[in-house]
Amino acid sequence: MPIKINEAIAAIPVYPAASTYAFGGPLAKLASNESPYAPHPAVAEAIAAAGRNVNRYPDPAGTALREKLAAKHDMAVEQVMLGNGSCEILLGAAQAMLEPGDEIVYAWPSFSMYPHLAAMTGATAVEVPLTADHRHDLPAMAAAVNSNTRIVVLCNPNNPTATFIDHADIEAFARDLPNDVLLIVDEAYIEFVKDAVRDRLLPLVIDKDNVVVTRTFAKVYGLAGLRVGYAFAPLRFRQAVEVARQPFSVNLVAQAAAAEALAHVDDVTQRVLTTWAERDWVETEVRTLGLATADTEANFSWIDLGGRDEDAIVDGLAKQGIIVRAGRALGAEGFIRVSYGHHEENERFVAALAGLLG
Ligand SMILES: Cc1ncc(COP(=O)(O)O)c(C=O)c1O
Repeated sequence: MPIKINEAIAAIPVYPAASTYAFGGPLAKLASNESPYAPHPAVAEAIAAAGRNVNRYPDPAGTALREKLAAKHDMAVEQVMLGNGSCEILLGAAQAMLEPGDEIVYAWPSFSMYPHLAAMTGATAVEVPLTADHRHDLPAMAAAVNSNTRIVVLCNPNNPTATFIDHADIEAFARDLPNDVLLIVDEAYIEFVKDAVRDRLLPLVIDKDNVVVTRTFAKVYGLAGLRVGYAFAPLRFRQAVEVARQPFSVNLVAQAAAAEALAHVDDVTQRVLTTWAERDWVETEVRTLGLATADTEANFSWIDLGGRDEDAIVDGLAKQGIIVRAGRALGAEGFIRVSYGHHEENERFVAALAGLLG
């Protein structure tokens, strides 16, 4: 008899790893929305220095990093929480709040982690389809809220479609939401949004007890490999998530690196400017090839293959060492999601795509 896995967990499908194929040359890894840029040299140094102290556990409260985040974003330290990636905070929200019979509402396609929040707790996932132009349908999401709803998640910009919800619309949505429903706004890509006040939703966290804004060091800060995310959240939520998780979940090296990364604002700004330039270039080239893309405010594009065979394109790119994410794995067949890499990688991607389109 094999060991028995709890039914809720056994039912969760395994997220397919992006295929790397047997390609001899350098891979262009454009499948996971990571930063192509290595950390700032001072961050690399902080990582090395912290490495000399890992015989000790980290500060369980992550105080130094939380203080820096609070100061940067003009929030109280009590309202800043850390996670082993922002994923840990999302999973913690589910663990702390959801039970069988409860409902969690989110858009679809959206971040692949959200279905897990329901699956692992036995709650019901209410997936509200995006609009035809790949945006959140806020009126439909509001209509999906009922007395069983415990959590609503808005992904902004949305992964995988890269579209952005105007902050004013989220403010109105939050105002109309019942106070006993938690609104999580997942802002993993917020730094890549042009023409928006990026911290605009933080006053909602202060004014209301049911709003959480999650962010990450994995994207613009280029620290995906260290797993460190954060959230602005009401104290009650933070305490519930923290009591349920393992102690010391954000490791010592990650805390040190993230704190140092915050000291290099110019570097972050430069990364964003470079990403915008690559974004404009990729979008223009792809549209010139005759393919439609969703309006992107992120570090990736969502490309409609116009009825072409998704497998043929994804496999054809992979055989040339260009790894992108197939739409089917993300909830929409006939699309690919491509993250922006270094300019040469983006050129390789566009040239290979052009070749495959014929
Ligand atoms: C929308 C969204 N939220 C959260 C995350 C995860 O971030 P972290 O690496 O901080 O767990 C991702 C990663 O791809 C994401 O796309």
